[in-house]
Amino acid sequence: MQKVAIVSVGHYLPKRRVTNQDLEKLVDTSDEWITTRTGIKERRIAVRGEKTSDMAFAAGKEALISAGVKPENIELIVVATTTPDSNFPSVACLVQKAIGAEKAAAFDVSAACSGFLYALTTAKQFIASGMYKNALVIGADKFTNIIDWNDRNTCVLFGDGAGAVFIRSTRSSAGILSDYLHAQGKFSKMMEVVSEERDPLDQENNTMRRPFAVMRGKELFKIAVNSMSDAVKIAAKKAGVRLPDIKCVVPHQANDRIISAVAKKLGLSKDRFFINIERYGNMSAASIAVAFYEAVESGRIKKGDIVALVTFGAGLVTAANIVRW
Ligand code: ACO
Repeated sequence: MQKVAIVSVGHYLPKRRVTNQDLEKLVDTSDEWITTRTGIKERRIAVRGEKTSDMAFAAGKEALISAGVKPENIELIVVATTTPDSNFPSVACLVQKAIGAEKAAAFDVSAACSGFLYALTTAKQFIASGMYKNALVIGADKFTNIIDWNDRNTCVLFGDGAGAVFIRSTRSSAGILSDYLHAQGKFSKMMEVVSEERDPLDQENNTMRRPFAVMRGKELFKIAVNSMSDAVKIAAKKAGVRLPDIKCVVPHQANDRIISAVAKKLGLSKDRFFINIERYGNMSAASIAVAFYEAVESGRIKKGDIVALVTFGAGLVTAANIVRW
């Protein structure tokens, strides 16, 4: 099996900032509630016409420029998203076209907030098996498009964005050391996008509401803490890494209190966790990709560091990777 390394990172964040104070004008909420219950202070929201594929392209392009790779040399593009521009074509195909990666295979992966790590592990397997030599992996979501903006339980939590990595086969000691993917479909009702069934001949089609996300937050919270801490333990064991050797944990950014509880369960100090939730909220598949980008670019992750990436999301789906940077 070929060893696989992450060689560069990229990101994109919409310019429009929406603060907790802005949301106070929309629903019955307060900056105090949102800050203490979640850690979020503001989020980015894509403007009308700014699509998931636009954000994915921008993040992917940055990762490619940083890796110094020509578009024609890209062999695979995998985009993690649950908010594609439309049912088809896939966001990955739109990115392929925008980048001009004429020779690449391209497809999307759907695993909600765990999508980016599901996509990373999927792409990694293609390289490990020898089928491809490299891949562009992107997590991109315009989650605010499927939010009910009258529902204070969900609308304060999410934002939009995209993050990307370029990966390729390597002989160096740096690379992805282990992978862990898990799903618990029995919890699928904890968070789902509801939409009304459409009868093609029904006149009422015109008045139907757009699909939107509903969530059982309190129950999700507990499962998230247990499944994320278990995932780090399993991935670390597979990599032959002791928990105290992990220099930085980059977790999914859903709730600062979830991250605190995971740190406690793992017996790791919270300052080992990279957290940017206060600025972006939960960007679904983009969350961990943007956090990883910022951890690398800020120098928080240094050459040779052992890093744990860990996510959970609707499905429910959990994923973790141990990486030597
Ligand atoms: N502003 C003010 N009050 C609110 C708000 C709000 N935005 N939202 C809920 N409340 C109220 C509730 O109505 C409730 O009022 P009540 O006691 O009168 O009934 C009270 O606040 C407490 O509500 P809880 O649900 O108990 O609050 P909790 O402390 O559990 O926090 C939260 C809620 C933030 C949603 C938390 O449970 C959480 O983060 N859960 C995990 C959610 C998550 O991670 N989702 C992402 C899944 S990943 C993916 O795939 C997209």
